[in-house]
Amino acid sequence: MFLGIPAIAGRDNESIITNGVPWFDSDGNIINAHGACIIEDGGKYWLFGEYKSDNSNAFPGFGCYSSSDLVNWKFERVVLPVQKDGILGPDRVGERVKVMRCPKTGEYIMLMHADNLKYTDPHIGIAVCDSINGDYRLLGTIEYDGKPIKNWDMGTFQDDDGTGYLLIHHGPVYRLSDDYRSISAKAAHIDGMGESPAMFRKNGIYFMLTSNLTSWERNDNYYFTATSIEGPWEKRGLFCPEGSLTHNSQCTFVFTLTRNGEKIPIYMGDRWSYPRQASAATYVWLPMQVNGTSLSIPEYWSSWNINGIRKQTLSGETKIHDWTSDKKGEKLRIPFHGKRISIIGESNSQSGYALVSIKDKEGKILHSQYVDFYSKVPDLSPRYVSRLYPEDDYMLEVEVSGENPVWSDKKGNVFGSKDFFINVSKSIIEK
Ligand code: GAL
Repeated sequence: MFLGIPAIAGRDNESIITNGVPWFDSDGNIINAHGACIIEDGGKYWLFGEYKSDNSNAFPGFGCYSSSDLVNWKFERVVLPVQKDGILGPDRVGERVKVMRCPKTGEYIMLMHADNLKYTDPHIGIAVCDSINGDYRLLGTIEYDGKPIKNWDMGTFQDDDGTGYLLIHHGPVYRLSDDYRSISAKAAHIDGMGESPAMFRKNGIYFMLTSNLTSWERNDNYYFTATSIEGPWEKRGLFCPEGSLTHNSQCTFVFTLTRNGEKIPIYMGDRWSYPRQASAATYVWLPMQVNGTSLSIPEYWSSWNINGIRKQTLSGETKIHDWTSDKKGEKLRIPFHGKRISIIGESNSQSGYALVSIKDKEGKILHSQYVDFYSKVPDLSPRYVSRLYPEDDYMLEVEVSGENPVWSDKKGNVFGSKDFFINVSKSIIEK
């Protein structure tokens, strides 16, 4: 269904989205935008997300990136930093930031989930700004019926007629007022909803995506459809193969890409990595297939080309390593000559964090970071794709860190890995 879309300008290998690996911005820093959304404005794409830290779950700000092609991103700034006090003050949680431009006022409206570190004081916060990448001013909490909305996971949806909606976990859908600064009505309540609501519309059908309640762990997300926002909403089931845990991700947003008049819904999901969320949590973005009320991402494309919307494998000189270890400090060293190196490895429920570094020929560390190999369901895919370097001699090191992602939810259920294994099956070097 995506055939026949001509390529846009740009080198082919610079147009590839590789899922589940850290992405780098134009300064070479890891793209830190989780629970994200994308809006198109002024001829560019803008990505907003949680600017996570590796050491604590406390709110460190919301970040903004810009791009002209959805692949190469420039870091703009932290557009809403930690506040002196209040719902996004020190030692609070700030999640799932969503931004929309209000068509009536031209103002940019930011909505988010604000909470305490135990997630027992949830609010939906609202911030505003006159420019898309300026300093957002936190106005406070958004209210319905004179009371603050005391809920957590949220999303937003802007309909084709410009009406804005606030989506809330487990069912409520609120219509925003004309200036988007308050709520005018409760538009619907979708029975059977879970967390992380994400809505889009295609060919007159509204689709609502949602996840089950498993904290940072992934699960099989599902969806509903309706012909009007008010409903009736019908539960349709899974949109990814059962057991794939939504291709190992949790939905956060659906961005509708317009290409040559065709509207292509792009699924945006989070592959969380607690506690190393800033460096090791990654993104899963995939085009969705819509046929009437049926929605699916039938196959996991670990890499795909945004031009032509097609699956693409990473190309280059391939070396086989078949290296596995769970011994802290053990290292795989891969000397290479080229511009970029990718490593393919298995992630499973016994895997941990690797410390991956790149050194130049003098042995100077150019880059070093945690890479998460854990996944509840086994998966053999790219785990790391380096940024582009000038063609030269380099050394890639993959070290067993002896750390793994483990966490518990409010009820004390423990999630995460049971060991520290790292597996590198092969590497691919681009000349
Ligand atoms: C998830 C939720 C995330 C975050 C996390 C904390 O269920 O979707 O946004 O709040 O729980 O455990």
